[in-house]
Amino acid sequence: MPRMPADRDVIRAPKGMLDVLPPESARWTALVTRFASWAERFGYGLLLTPIVEHYEVFARVGETTDVVRKEMYDFVDRGGRRLALRPEGTAPVVRAFVQHRPATPWKVWYLAPNFRAEQPQAGRYRQHWQLGAEVIGIDDPDVDVEMIALLWEFSADLGLRDVRLLLNSMGDAETRARYRDVLVAYWRDHADVIGKEMERAEANPLRILDSKRADWSDLLERAPQLGEYLTDGSAAHFALVQEGLQALGIPFEIAPRLVRGFDYYTSTVFELASGALDAAQNAIGGGGRYDRLAEEMGGPVAPSIGFGTGIERLLLACDAEGTFPAPAAYLDAYVIDLAGHADTVRLLAELRALGLSADRAYGGRSAKKQFAAADRSGARWAVIVGADEMSRGVVAVRDLRVDDPQKEVRREHIAAWLRERKDESSS
Ligand code: HAM
Repeated sequence: MPRMPADRDVIRAPKGMLDVLPPESARWTALVTRFASWAERFGYGLLLTPIVEHYEVFARVGETTDVVRKEMYDFVDRGGRRLALRPEGTAPVVRAFVQHRPATPWKVWYLAPNFRAEQPQAGRYRQHWQLGAEVIGIDDPDVDVEMIALLWEFSADLGLRDVRLLLNSMGDAETRARYRDVLVAYWRDHADVIGKEMERAEANPLRILDSKRADWSDLLERAPQLGEYLTDGSAAHFALVQEGLQALGIPFEIAPRLVRGFDYYTSTVFELASGALDAAQNAIGGGGRYDRLAEEMGGPVAPSIGFGTGIERLLLACDAEGTFPAPAAYLDAYVIDLAGHADTVRLLAELRALGLSADRAYGGRSAKKQFAAADRSGARWAVIVGADEMSRGVVAVRDLRVDDPQKEVRREHIAAWLRERKDESSS
C-alpha cells in the first residue's frame, strides 16, 4: 500500500529532491552553458536519452553496488514492464550505442537528473543532476588524458582551485582476477574485523576497499594494493595516461584504493575531490574506463571511458570557494505603461524581436510601483509610455544606471535606438 503523505507534505518536493528557483537557476544555465562550450571544444555532441530505462539496463552494471541493489527507483508501468529511473548516466549511453550503432569513436556529452534513494544530507540528494561525457569504442590512453582534461578544464573555468585529482588503474580482467584472490585471502585473514560484512567481502572484495568506516581504516591501509598486480599491458596504459597528464601540466595523485562504485569499471579510474566540501561527499566528479560494458549489453567490442560531475556539488564547492556567483539580474529595458495598452504590448514585441530583453508590469499598477519594479528588475533602461508622449508620437527613456535627465525618442525608432545603445556598450 502506498504511504499517504500528510496534507502539508503534498505541497513539498519529495524527500531529498530540490527545486531550483530564479535567480539561483541562472547559475545553472551559466554552468550548463559553460560545460556545453567545453564539451563542444573537445568534439562531443549532446546525447539525450529517456529518464527511464528497462530495469535490466542498470541491473547489469551494478549487481553488487548499493546504487542499484538498494537505491534504485523502479516500478512496473501500465503495460507491465519493469522500468527504472536512471540512477547514473553511463548505462543509458551504452544502451543507446548498442541500439543505434553509430560510428566510433562516439563522443557524447549529457545533462540529466539521476535518482538514488540514499539518506539525504548536504551534497547528497535523491535526485541529483549530472553533466557527463563518454567516448565509446576506442582504447587509447590519449583518450583517457583528454577525458580527464575536460573535467579538469571545466572545473578550473568555474574558478575551483581547492581540488585534487585522484587517479588509479583497476587493470584488465586478468589483473582483477589475480587481485581479487589476494584480497579475499586478506579479508579472510581479518574476518574478526570484517565481522558481519564478510559475505559482501567474499562476493565483491574490491567494494570493501572504498568503505569509509573508521574502525576499518587500519585494515584498509594495510590491504594489498591493486597497482602491484597490474599486467604489463595495464601498467603500460596507465603509465601513458600519467605521462599525458604531466604533458598537460595537470597535477594528479595516485590513489591506490580508488576503485569507484560501479561494476563496469576497468583500467583508468579517476575522481575530482573538493577540499572545500565535507569529506564524506567531496567528490565533485568521477569516472573511468569501462572496456567491457558494450559487449556485456549484447553489443560489439567497444572499449570506452567517461565521467559524470554533479551540478549541486559543483555549486556547493563554488559557494565554499566564493567563485562562480549568480549572474547579476539583467534586462535591457523595463517598460512603464501609463497609457499605452495595446501599443505597450506591441512595443515589447518590437524590443524582443530585435533581441533585447524586456519586461513590464501588468494589471494597471501605479507609476510609483512600476518604477520600483523597474529598479528591482536590474533593467538598464526604463521606457515610459505616457499619454502626453503618445500624443506627440514619442516615448520617454531613462538610463537607470546614471543620473541623466530622461530623453524622448520617436516611438517608431525606440527599438532600434535601444538596440544601438546595447551594441555600443558591448563593443
Ligand atoms: P558517480 O561517482 O556515482 O559516477 O557520480 C558522479 C558524480 O555525481 C559524483 O562525483 C557526484 O558529484 C555526483 N553525485 C553522485 N551521487 C550524488 C548524490 N546522491 N547527490 C548529489 N550528487 C551526486 C557515475 O554516476 C558514473 N556514471 C560516472 C561515469 C561516467 N563513469 C564513466 N562514465
